[in-house]
Amino acid sequence: MTDPSAASVPARVRSDVAHNARVWNYWLGGKDNYPVDRTVGDQVTGMYPSIGEVARADRAFLGRAVRHLAGDVGISQFLDIGTGLPTFNNTHEIAQHTAPHSRIVYVDNDPIVLAHARALLTSSPEGATEYIDADAHHPEQILRSVEPTLDLERPVAVMMLGILNFVLDTGEAQGIVRKLMDAMPSGSYLVLTHPTLELGGEGNEAAMRFWNENATPPITARTRAEFASFMDGLDVLEPGIVSCARWRTEPGSPAAEVAQFGAVGRKP
Ligand SMILES: C[S@@+](CC[C@H](N)C(=O)[O-])C[C@H]1O[C@@H](n2cnc3c(N)ncnc32)[C@H](O)[C@@H]1O
Repeated sequence: MTDPSAASVPARVRSDVAHNARVWNYWLGGKDNYPVDRTVGDQVTGMYPSIGEVARADRAFLGRAVRHLAGDVGISQFLDIGTGLPTFNNTHEIAQHTAPHSRIVYVDNDPIVLAHARALLTSSPEGATEYIDADAHHPEQILRSVEPTLDLERPVAVMMLGILNFVLDTGEAQGIVRKLMDAMPSGSYLVLTHPTLELGGEGNEAAMRFWNENATPPITARTRAEFASFMDGLDVLEPGIVSCARWRTEPGSPAAEVAQFGAVGRKP
């Protein structure tokens, strides 16, 4: 942990239980994690050796999707729910590199992400970034908080990367996506990644069971059909629903397929 004793670390941070945001940070090579996160992270890697590749492929997908939306499509507003700890190439850095006037709202409910949120608030002078400490189970609260940073009269890219897997009930997860997308105008986008057991990944299922007994928050995998249901009513961009490692690859993109679906859909 960069500075675990810092006064800015909220009291609700628990250093005795592994938290997803911090373990994800560990798998990505970050330093904002506690011994318990590294221990559980290593145990999961022991069972499911490609989990580090999944995390890297997911971030690389995020980069390609945001570059496409900010550069080719002209989207300049992003709502990134389940942001994770600041890392290299955060959403605002990628978007504002292409379009400096981009406006980004980040949402996460982990207290350690809140403690590090200032690293997400380093907007270009022409754009804006905001951080909201909120739970994805409450989309109405998120929607009430996004303005004035985002103008919901103009298209928004709603990003939910590796987050719906923490909404265990599929019907509830579908309802969350629907509420968010219903609030967005035509021409908005949904950018999604989600773990699955349908794309291989040796040890994936056992590692998820281990995670649910030893770490927080609990996680679930979903089928292609369940993933597709989140895209209902949206036009899914080519190449469709694929391993996130295979979505519009660029030279230098991760080569191996990973057990994480990725897709981008446009609201007609
Ligand atoms: C697997 S990480 C993904 C981070 C980032 N989106 C990425 O793709 O690299 C999941 C993030 O979702 C956050 N999260 C989990 N449950 C959440 C909830 N109910 N509401 C908001 N954030 C949540 C975790 O704290 C963590 O930062």
